[in-house]
Amino acid sequence: MKAVVYDRYGPPDVLRIADVARPEPKDDEVLIKVRAVAVTRGDVHTREANRKGGPAVMLLSRLVSGVRRPRQPILGSELAGEVAAVGSSVTEFAVGDAVFGSSGFRFGAHAEFICLPESARIAHKPANLSFEEAAAICDGGLNALWALRLARLTPPQTILVYGASGAIGTAGVQLAKHFGVDVTAVTSTRNLDLVRSLGADRVIDYTREDFTRNGQAYDVIFDAVGKESFTRCAPSLKPGGRYLATDGLGNLLRAVWSSRFGDKKVIFSIPPRYTKQDVLFLKELIESGRFRPVVDRSYPLEQVVEASRYVETEQKVGNVILVIGSGG
Ligand SMILES: NC(=O)c1ccc[n+]([C@@H]2O[C@H](COP(=O)([O-])OP(=O)(O)OC[C@H]3O[C@@H](n4cnc5c(N)ncnc54)[C@H](OP(=O)(O)O)[C@@H]3O)[C@@H](O)[C@H]2O)c1
Repeated sequence: MKAVVYDRYGPPDVLRIADVARPEPKDDEVLIKVRAVAVTRGDVHTREANRKGGPAVMLLSRLVSGVRRPRQPILGSELAGEVAAVGSSVTEFAVGDAVFGSSGFRFGAHAEFICLPESARIAHKPANLSFEEAAAICDGGLNALWALRLARLTPPQTILVYGASGAIGTAGVQLAKHFGVDVTAVTSTRNLDLVRSLGADRVIDYTREDFTRNGQAYDVIFDAVGKESFTRCAPSLKPGGRYLATDGLGNLLRAVWSSRFGDKKVIFSIPPRYTKQDVLFLKELIESGRFRPVVDRSYPLEQVVEASRYVETEQKVGNVILVIGSGG
């Protein structure tokens, strides 16, 4: 089968299309013919061994992914496709079923086929979505869900979502609305209409207004794009407020510290421990019209280098998708 492989950490050019052995499903596994798969910030970070995070983060990244070279040569986690074969004990899925989900840190989805246990974070694809849209559900959806649940949002609380146009941000705005809280979304001019359409109660254009200087305070500030800091956000948090992080080693240390000291908390827990139930939760929201994944661009699998370069600009709006075969 065709797959995107990489043998060493580095820039997008280390990625190449290769012929590799097609995996065979074990008794409890399904073989999925991948029709569409996301290229995520997680793929980019792993491919370059988190070089931009500094030496400590880079070391941690290599300890997880392989010290000298990547142990898993195929990236890609968030996928949608069709079941091509099932193991002897599989009951939930049958050949031909359309599915979506995440292989998480197993990666392996930038390929024509992948095997996953039926108990993995996969579910039947919502009928109202294309494969490309379904591949855009899990990166932002699962990560935002994980973070927002840690924040224990309850009405009539207020949340500010910073970086509301990214994969996590677009999902975060919609999920926060679903949890019944008042949402202020911060984004740039070009994405104001999009984040309004996702349900934000009010929007702030960060190119014109600094939300830390407008006198407003929130129960939760969700830094969905890893560009803010607790220090800058703390004055804009209400007493007992929580700063919800998605990135940065420093935030892990601040989360430990603030769990014991101070009234305002940093919340950051990695790796995210999302479950199959979470995938089913997102599917239900989509089918009832309360969540929609946002697709920015789609590329054929062969253009994985271009797609990765675009993700690296940190300017994608929602998700970038690789289409395999006829996609759809
Ligand atoms: N905790 C985890 O397990 C986990 C998992 C996945 C990702 N992450 C991290 O979460 C972060 C977000 O990932 P993502 O994939 O959602 O991001 P993304 O989709 O790459 O975010 C891109 C968006 O961010 C906006 N943006 C860029 N710079 C900005 C700035 N300075 N201020 C405000 N908005 C800005 C851009 O729109 P504008 O035009 O508005 O600038 C763009 O639409 C990344 O740091 C990623 O590494 C964490």
